[in-house]
Amino acid sequence: MENNLLSTNVAGLQLENPTILASGVLGYSAESLNRVAKGGAGGVVTKSIGIEPRVGYPNPTVVQAEAGIINAMGLPNPGIDVYAQEIKFCKTLLRVPVIVSVFGYSADEYATVAKKAVAAGADAVELNVSCPHVQFTGAEIGQNPKHLAEVVEKVKAAIGKPILVKLSPNVADITVTARAAVEAGADVLTAVNTLKAMAIDSETMRPILSNLKGGLSGPAVKPVALRCVYDVREALPDVPIIGCGGITDWKDAVEFMLAGASAVQVGTAIGLENPEVFQTITKGVEVYLRKKNYRSVKEIVNLAHRS
Ligand code: SIN
Repeated sequence: MENNLLSTNVAGLQLENPTILASGVLGYSAESLNRVAKGGAGGVVTKSIGIEPRVGYPNPTVVQAEAGIINAMGLPNPGIDVYAQEIKFCKTLLRVPVIVSVFGYSADEYATVAKKAVAAGADAVELNVSCPHVQFTGAEIGQNPKHLAEVVEKVKAAIGKPILVKLSPNVADITVTARAAVEAGADVLTAVNTLKAMAIDSETMRPILSNLKGGLSGPAVKPVALRCVYDVREALPDVPIIGCGGITDWKDAVEFMLAGASAVQVGTAIGLENPEVFQTITKGVEVYLRKKNYRSVKEIVNLAHRS
């Protein structure tokens, strides 16, 4: 496969191809992240990491929906001091950029975790300001432009690596939070995290998830995520965007790039297929580019915005 057809650069992150592992799937250990890189991902994002260890919610934490899954794990993670060893191990194992997803309960906490992640070797951090179901963090910060800006500013002052901000789709106008993030110093916007959702069991007559509500991912959210990318691109023509939400095959990836994404994140599709889904997607994108006579994947970014 000719590398330069698929290679791209997102805010200084050099990617051999425009597919990246989304946060939350196979992201706890260097070995599992390496498995994904070997499956063909151009970059990986870890599970979200906080300042202290967190157990997360009791089971059930995942439920199958009609065209996707609803999860409410509750941000379980070992805390940055333990996870730093995994980041260091990643740097010896993986040949692709390692992006560490971080969360906190204040701007200072986000900055502290981000700083420790970078000290351990993270190539970039992605701020989880969009988890739709954990109190005092995630979307509770990212849905508020002022609080979101404070977090991004603090992290910007703390690290010298690219900052990705993962936006929530659970807002009235995503361009408002997108703009706040960029004005505060975000280098890249990841659009989007999961849609707030729930499932109820007709037999037990109770919500299925222990947390009652969770986040919907998978094919069901793709049209919403695609619209978010399109809207953010219209409002902010210059900021790099990474599309995320229901991307399952090469056609989905191409559609997100046409809408304005420079690269795409894939998560739920790994459960449906396996880590080789990255190779399948990139091969399909390559065939598409050759058929349409493009010399680089960069040439198709934004094309849906032509009048
Ligand atoms: C979780 O750990 O519950 C999911 C995190 C997220 O949706 O951002």
